[in-house]
Amino acid sequence: MSRDRMVKFTLKSTEDLAKMREAGKAVAAALKAMKDAAQPGVSTLDLDVLAGEILAGFGAVSALKNYQPPFSDIRYLHNSCISINNEVLHGVPKADRFIRDGDVVKLDIAATFDGWCADSAITTIVGTPKSPKAEKLVSVTRASLYNAIRKAVYGNTMGDVSHAIQSHVEKNGFGVVRDLVGHGIGQTPHEEGLDVPCYGRAKLGPKLVVGMTFCIEPMVTTGRGTVAHTGDDPWTIISADRTLGAHFEHTVAILEDGPFIITAAERSDEPAAATAD
Ligand code: MF3
Ligand code: CO
Repeated sequence: MSRDRMVKFTLKSTEDLAKMREAGKAVAAALKAMKDAAQPGVSTLDLDVLAGEILAGFGAVSALKNYQPPFSDIRYLHNSCISINNEVLHGVPKADRFIRDGDVVKLDIAATFDGWCADSAITTIVGTPKSPKAEKLVSVTRASLYNAIRKAVYGNTMGDVSHAIQSHVEKNGFGVVRDLVGHGIGQTPHEEGLDVPCYGRAKLGPKLVVGMTFCIEPMVTTGRGTVAHTGDDPWTIISADRTLGAHFEHTVAILEDGPFIITAAERSDEPAAATAD
């Protein structure tokens, strides 16, 4: 059996996508509020509580709270993941973990609206960046996501998407994380069977078809891209070489007329939101 035939995934209807979009709007608003509130002295738990409030205002709830992801034996207990500096992702909000000037902060949320999920992440530098390299890491990681989204087109392959991430990151001297991948999404935050690696070769991998929904999430470090657990908790993943990490993520649907960014911020020019932040 070819690799393509072994891939299983669910295709979403217009109605399903409309609900995912409502979840996506809530996620985008929560990320924006968290970003604005991420100032020196604020705790990561404060930001997590804020995320829950914003989601509630949209009639959504966190899809992470009490969720047991496929890669874990236990449930996650917070609304969001907040990871700082050499923490790349899945950082756990804490009442005694305070944001400091210059921190490279990753904010990651998944929400559920009427049973349907959306998942997105951003990286922001608080206050004054500590180095030009930190700024470059964030801009390169962000650009690699949008390059990849432009390849998320009916008829292309997942390899085209993955390659867009890897080539942009490596051209700029940074490393992609290989131990973790983007994922299918729908009525759960992680649908099995549709991996979205941050590395790959153009034209290889499963063909993209209309109705697919998945999360593209470049995870990048200024080092080699190798990662490890901190050991402080079962969740937080750091760069193995302790270099800075960045992470951006959007939930994307493959539509007939191109990629639709389910987690884009609400814009007056919807539904042409495929170019939105
Ligand atoms: N958005 C995160 C991801 O796709 C969700 C992590 S699941 C959690 O990896 F349980 F760790 F929060
Ligand atoms: Co994700």
